[in-house]
Amino acid sequence: MPIQAVLGCQWGDEGKGKIVDLLASDADWVARFQGGANAGHTVFAGTERIILHLVPTGILHARVRCAIGNGVVLDPEALLEEIRYISGLGIELRDRLRVSAFAHLITPVEKAIETLSAQDLAIGTTRRGIGPAYAEKAARRGLRVEDLIDPRALRERLRAQWEEQARACGSGEEAFAAAAGAGFEAVASRLEEAGRALAPLVCDVTDLLLEEDDRGARILAEGAQGAWLDVDQGTYPFVTSSNTTAGGICTGLGIPPQRVKKIYGVVKAYVTRVGLGPFPTEFTGEHADRFRELAGEYGATTRRPRRCGWYDAVLARRACRVNGVDELIVTKLDVLGEEETIRLAARYESGGAARDGGWLGTRQLARAQPVYREFPGWRRPLRDCRAWSQLPAEARDYVQALARETGARLGRVSIGPGRDQVIAADA
Ligand code: GDP
Ligand code: IMO
Ligand code: MG
Repeated sequence: MPIQAVLGCQWGDEGKGKIVDLLASDADWVARFQGGANAGHTVFAGTERIILHLVPTGILHARVRCAIGNGVVLDPEALLEEIRYISGLGIELRDRLRVSAFAHLITPVEKAIETLSAQDLAIGTTRRGIGPAYAEKAARRGLRVEDLIDPRALRERLRAQWEEQARACGSGEEAFAAAAGAGFEAVASRLEEAGRALAPLVCDVTDLLLEEDDRGARILAEGAQGAWLDVDQGTYPFVTSSNTTAGGICTGLGIPPQRVKKIYGVVKAYVTRVGLGPFPTEFTGEHADRFRELAGEYGATTRRPRRCGWYDAVLARRACRVNGVDELIVTKLDVLGEEETIRLAARYESGGAARDGGWLGTRQLARAQPVYREFPGWRRPLRDCRAWSQLPAEARDYVQALARETGARLGRVSIGPGRDQVIAADA
């Protein structure tokens, strides 16, 4: 297996964690290349529900090693907490986890900036400091992991950043410290301690992965968020601040594009979104609440209720084209089991039709009127199906039409959260 990747093709929470967990049994390395602790990837290992934010999902397989690439924004305290959580599950991981010296840090400074700018409220962010961390990186003020493990550089760079940001926020150093949850000295010593704890994991992840690839290791890149949250390709400004699409793999790990040989695109059989922004196929009213409860659609990181809607093939098609998806994996098909009629947006009536010289921009999507195709529901549980032929004909028809409308090759269908609840499509 050369370098492969699992990417979300909607607004996140497509079930990437479960799919990475599945594919990781054939991998030597799993690497995260973007995002940070805004991600919440859920895996069921037996009956245990495990949610990972920063550590790649591959860590749950004892022989798989994991890397956090330079494109990730890393909150060292959140990472240490996650390491403790995973160790507490009886999983040994310190020898199997590596962190790029070039990954940027999220410290209380970035969290204070997010709070004070009220950006979290305007977009409905996860409040993990993601936007400010990427902004600080682009502004060339950010701190990197290499600074975290060098106490002198850490204090110097943190001091300069702290003073500049406290000035910029305009409400004085005291207000800044309150938003950061502590004063400069306390923050600096906490980070120094985190640096000491993480130092043994730090290396040049690019060099490591290129060498591993040279010697034929099987490397899986684990995407976080989804294509429509990509800072360039998504519903800007209602996006996250990283490149969640395929290009991000190269910049976020430091590997050339020819090395990436296969892209798995993950979509739910419907759509969800957390936070603000346009959502053409969103459910409203009583149906929305009933569906959310049935599907258990609450954020894995923030527990916020997720907005839910019908599958949108217009958005999925674009996401698969941008990502170069080789194999489409459809998750949560089982959740549609109670619907009498299932709908799928094949195109939009108005607004955002690229063919008419327009584009799928945020304002166009806010106005878009989906044109739906309707499918009869199957009205029975799918969780015990283990082969394509065991799926009801209506379920097969729906998921095949979904893939056709998306313009992607259907590879697998997931019919429950468990590791064994995935079926190879006989399409
Ligand atoms: P991620 O961020 O893309 O990894 O997805 P999340 O973990 O945030 O959300 C996906 C949720 O759906 C998790 O609770 C998974 O356990 C669950 N899940 C994944 N695949 C399936 C499926 O096929 N059926 C059902 N019912 N749940 C699933
Ligand atoms: P996974 O990896 C779903 C959303 C937030 C908000 C926007 C910006 O689990 O799929 P941020 O904190 O990144 O600045 O928030 O992006 N968001 C996600 N939505 N799944 C995620 O991750 C998300 N990560 C960020 O809700 O709308
Ligand atoms: Mg998630």
